Amino acid sequence: MTLRRRLVLSIVALVVAVSAVIGAGSIVALFSIQRSAIDQQLQYATSRAQKSLQDQGPNGPSLEIGRPSGQAAGTLTVYFLDGTAAVGSVLDNAGDIDRLTGSSVRPLGGVAIDGAAHTVDLGHDLGRYRVTAAPVGPAVLVVGLPMAPVYESVWKLFGWVLVVTALALLAATGVAAVVVRRSLRPLERVAETASSVARMPLERSDALDGVRVPDADPRTEVGRVGTAFNRMLGHIAGAMQARERSEQKVRQFVADASHELRTPLASVRGYAELTRRMGADLPQDVVYAMSRIESESKRMTSMVEDLLLLARLDEGREVQFADVDLTGLVLDAVNDAHAASPDHPIEVDVPDVPVEVQGDAARLHQVVVNLVTNARTHTPDGTRITVGLAPSPNGVDLTVRDTGQGIDPEFLPKLFERFARADSSRSRTAGSTGLGLAIVDAVVQAHGGSVEVASVPGDTVFTVHLPTSRPAAAAGAGAAGAVAATA
Ligand SMILES: Nc1ncnc2c1ncn2[C@@H]1O[C@H](COP(=O)(O)OP(=O)(O)OP(=O)(O)O)[C@@H](O)[C@H]1O
Ligand SMILES: [Mg+2]
Repeated sequence: MTLRRRLVLSIVALVVAVSAVIGAGSIVALFSIQRSAIDQQLQYATSRAQKSLQDQGPNGPSLEIGRPSGQAAGTLTVYFLDGTAAVGSVLDNAGDIDRLTGSSVRPLGGVAIDGAAHTVDLGHDLGRYRVTAAPVGPAVLVVGLPMAPVYESVWKLFGWVLVVTALALLAATGVAAVVVRRSLRPLERVAETASSVARMPLERSDALDGVRVPDADPRTEVGRVGTAFNRMLGHIAGAMQARERSEQKVRQFVADASHELRTPLASVRGYAELTRRMGADLPQDVVYAMSRIESESKRMTSMVEDLLLLARLDEGREVQFADVDLTGLVLDAVNDAHAASPDHPIEVDVPDVPVEVQGDAARLHQVVVNLVTNARTHTPDGTRITVGLAPSPNGVDLTVRDTGQGIDPEFLPKLFERFARADSSRSRTAGSTGLGLAIVDAVVQAHGGSVEVASVPGDTVFTVHLPTSRPAAAAGAGAAGAVAATA
């Protein structure tokens, strides 16, 4: 049950309980007040009846003792002599005397003769009565007044209590619903902000910029929650900034290190080449060692270039957007691959019209080359490779498919990570570093696209989705870069 519903129900229940208590109290009070009033009138009625009895004289009492002046309608007068009702009458509404029958009189015989008021039930015709019995010489005079008016007013009050309680219930429900909703609105805002933060991809520290709960008045309970929440968001943003700073430092370090390594590597390679050219005069094993130095320095150079590229892509640099003819780019890459490994039959499946996208030609070329090179180097000779281009709903799909042995499903989730190789020992000797697909992923992301892989033995497909137009984030980054450049 929601907090709101629980609060409303509690308030309504409280109103009902209070109304019930007040109603019951009023009914009990009304009953006892009215009964006291009847008892008071009963005393007067008894005095009047006694007086009228005395006035009757020696002939003994007649029905007329029930009709002294001032006696109210419904007054009952019974004269008991030796335990039997000698005379019994009740005054009707018209002021006439009605004789009482035996069945109505019988219950009066048992009334205590103490002058106090008692309630007796006189059956259907008369109902309940308040009566007193007082001795008059050898006889007993019983006088009674009907309780019907008391019960009538009690029932009326009960009806009123019901109506008022129902109205109070309606009003309380309405007011409680409005008040509770209004009071909980700030809490809802806090909850909304919290869930929107929960849905946010918190990759960049500025994601939380401007995300604050407006209700942060520390004098209210909700405000305290809001304040704590805002403070927590501040801490998260701070932690994210710290992480970004340290990532930035690492990136900068990798970029600087790779940049600095290029020059000494170029020297090493140059000297190795030079030595090879003069190789005629050198012993065989020195020539071999120099060729190893040369090839390893080449490998290291390409690794350093890859690292530098990745570091720059991470920084959001290194991609210059222009119109790129993807068809021409694919054809070039395939021709190069043909030349490099004639044992892999390579097919091209591109539309007749040139496919163009907004992007960086050199980087996209690298994407195609990396994918085709993988299909060549990680599959046995004779494996058929197909490179395809096809328009997709909001861009272009570039596919590189091969019929090789496939990629281990356990390795697939790590495929695009840096330095990830399925068979590290073998790939390392084959001269691979595990950076190729990481670069593909980074370049494609910088273009606002995505890359997917599906692999089963005999069919491995890498699909690169590229949007035709420049992504908004890259456009923003470009603009920011331009501002920075002018500054
Ligand atoms: N078409 C493919 N068929 C089978 N395995 C593949 C294929 N493409 C990639 N792989 C596996 O994925 C690993 C990672 O590929 P990636 O291109 O990132 O690195 P690499 O080719 O090993 O090295 P680099 O490309 O940096 O020279 C490879 O080592 C290989 O095990
Ligand atoms: Mg590769």
